[in-house]
Amino acid sequence: MSIVVTTPTGHVGSRVVRVLLQAGARPRVLVRDPARLDAPTRERVEALQGDLTDPDYVRTSVKGARTVFWVDPTPHVVENPVETSLRTAAPLIDAARAGDVERVVLLSSAGAELREGAGHIDALGRIEEALDTTGADVLHLRNGYFFTNLLPDLGMLDGGVLTTSADPDQPVPWVDPRDIGEVVAARLLNEHWSGRIVQGVHGPEDLSFRRVTEILSDVLDRPVELNAVSDDEARAGMLAAGLPPTAVDGIVGMSTGTRGLRPDPPRDLITTTPTPLAAWARTQLTA
Ligand SMILES: NC(=O)c1ccc[n+]([C@@H]2O[C@H](COP(=O)([O-])OP(=O)(O)OC[C@H]3O[C@@H](n4cnc5c(N)ncnc54)[C@H](OP(=O)(O)O)[C@@H]3O)[C@@H](O)[C@H]2O)c1
Repeated sequence: MSIVVTTPTGHVGSRVVRVLLQAGARPRVLVRDPARLDAPTRERVEALQGDLTDPDYVRTSVKGARTVFWVDPTPHVVENPVETSLRTAAPLIDAARAGDVERVVLLSSAGAELREGAGHIDALGRIEEALDTTGADVLHLRNGYFFTNLLPDLGMLDGGVLTTSADPDQPVPWVDPRDIGEVVAARLLNEHWSGRIVQGVHGPEDLSFRRVTEILSDVLDRPVELNAVSDDEARAGMLAAGLPPTAVDGIVGMSTGTRGLRPDPPRDLITTTPTPLAAWARTQLTA
């Protein structure tokens, strides 16, 4: 049984690797810079150094895998993010179609089921669709909104503000990426699934941005105000910061396209994971 893990230094991938090691597995990890893995991890994995945007590297590194965990590494800020994500996943899809990979676990997203109209998330929907045609066994993990999306906002939070263009009152699933990593690892180790499966990963509860600011105010022990901005204001701010217009479309689209979305699949026992936002914030946002 060979397990290949992409983005082993990421929020989700690092947890996947740790659990696999604790389970006694020796995953192959595809990593740009092995020095970014801590030394005890580096000693226990098979690290293949390379860039996921290099098709030859991906095609060679996944060959013969029982299961590949695929994370789209495309940053939201690149030109033409959807096309870039699809181009990056193409060698994995080719390998699955050729029978060189038996199973794929895809880190997908709530909103991927829409297939279009949800900005950069559209790429995950199209990768789901492409994988479905390969003949490989596929598991699409449609995740909620990561707690770690708050990390780039630390400066603003220090100033007591959380800005969003999302609907401030719409509850959506918020999830700790480490909990996602545990679900992924369990699926990678489970030999008894096949076919096509779609599974949600939703954290312990749905939260609106307004509720998030209350939780953060409590944890940080100082008021955090919500700054709800319009799509046009968000768009103008990103363009002024120099982001390519296609990237801005991809980012704004993720929020406009998923407004009012009811996750598919819906929250249930299987999609609900344990870590509350407050517990995560206490360890990640307080010194
Ligand atoms: N954020 C959300 O709310 C959300 C919701 C649903 C799904 N998702 C999915 O989750 C993904 C992010 O997962 P995450 O938060 O675990 O990642 P992350 O912590 O943001 O880390 C990004 C990872 O990608 C690697 N990487 C970036 N470019 C690469 C390249 N060209 N070649 C090889 N590796 C590369 C980085 O490696 P280095 O160490 O080399 O930089 C790092 O391991 C998103 O792309 C999206 O598909 C996110």
